Amino acid sequence: MDVIVAGDRAELAEARRALGIGGPASPGKAALALVPTMGALHEGHRSLMRLAGEHAEHVAVSIFVNPLQFGPGEDFSRYPRTFDDDLEVCAAEGVSMVFAPAAEDMYLPDRQVGVSAGKMGAVVEGAFRPGHLDGVLTVVLKLFNLVRPDVAVFGQKDAQQLAMIRRMVADLDLPISVVGAPTIREADGLALSSRNRYLSPQDRQAALALSRALFAGAGQRTPGEIRRVARAVLAEEPSVAVDYLVLVDPATFAEVGEGHTGEAILAVAARVGSTRLIDNVTIGL
Ligand code: PAJ
Repeated sequence: MDVIVAGDRAELAEARRALGIGGPASPGKAALALVPTMGALHEGHRSLMRLAGEHAEHVAVSIFVNPLQFGPGEDFSRYPRTFDDDLEVCAAEGVSMVFAPAAEDMYLPDRQVGVSAGKMGAVVEGAFRPGHLDGVLTVVLKLFNLVRPDVAVFGQKDAQQLAMIRRMVADLDLPISVVGAPTIREADGLALSSRNRYLSPQDRQAALALSRALFAGAGQRTPGEIRRVARAVLAEEPSVAVDYLVLVDPATFAEVGEGHTGEAILAVAARVGSTRLIDNVTIGL
């Protein structure tokens, strides 16, 4: 008759504790924080590792170029792979563990089941990259299950990815705290990205139009003005082919209306030469 009945998630956690199963990591700091990456590590990734170290005793970094999140015709095969340099970066940042599986190790050949990003996965970035966010969520859930971190750190640079991972954690009751990290930029404003190394010197100069447009938009007061000013700056750079420029709700990625108050994300995606870049800023309205 000693059966414990747990009627809600708090009681379930309490029951696990009473039975001595798992339970929270040591009080104060969590045990393990994971920084998922696709390698080609740069200062942006390093800042995530440092932030992870503030949240947990040990930091794990995963390095895996996830085939599932690349569409046909995207840059999966030419995505930069710099494993030896990446290992040095992780060592220099005091990372305790690097998880770098081979694709055959991650996915069964007859794989059937994956995570659906739902309607939110079909807007903004998802509208231009069908299936991309499904592929991201599927690999991130697998990484969570394999590495079993208490905390996971993701960059605001990929704002919709971060918002969707928060949604997945809430919708699927994953026992993980998600920490968002600010975007690291070059001195001239260009957001760091593994894809920046594809840019020719001329492309790199043109690519500055993205951050310039976002900063100009962020200086405006109303959604209409923000969109208009940012668009105008992008239009001044003819070698930048814009996929989208949107002002969206940070949690849902739905376009905000003129009366919106609180935070909004001004997000842009554009192709410069053969390189597709994304960037965003958060604006208080
Ligand atoms: P990747 O592009 O390698 O990025 C790994 C993490 O670094 C992401 O959380 C991303 O938002 C963050 N990041 C990238 N550039 C940044 C910058 N300039 N400043 C701060 N953080 C930055 O995002 C992925 O890999 C993959 O989709 C992944 C989540 C690993 C799933 O495959």
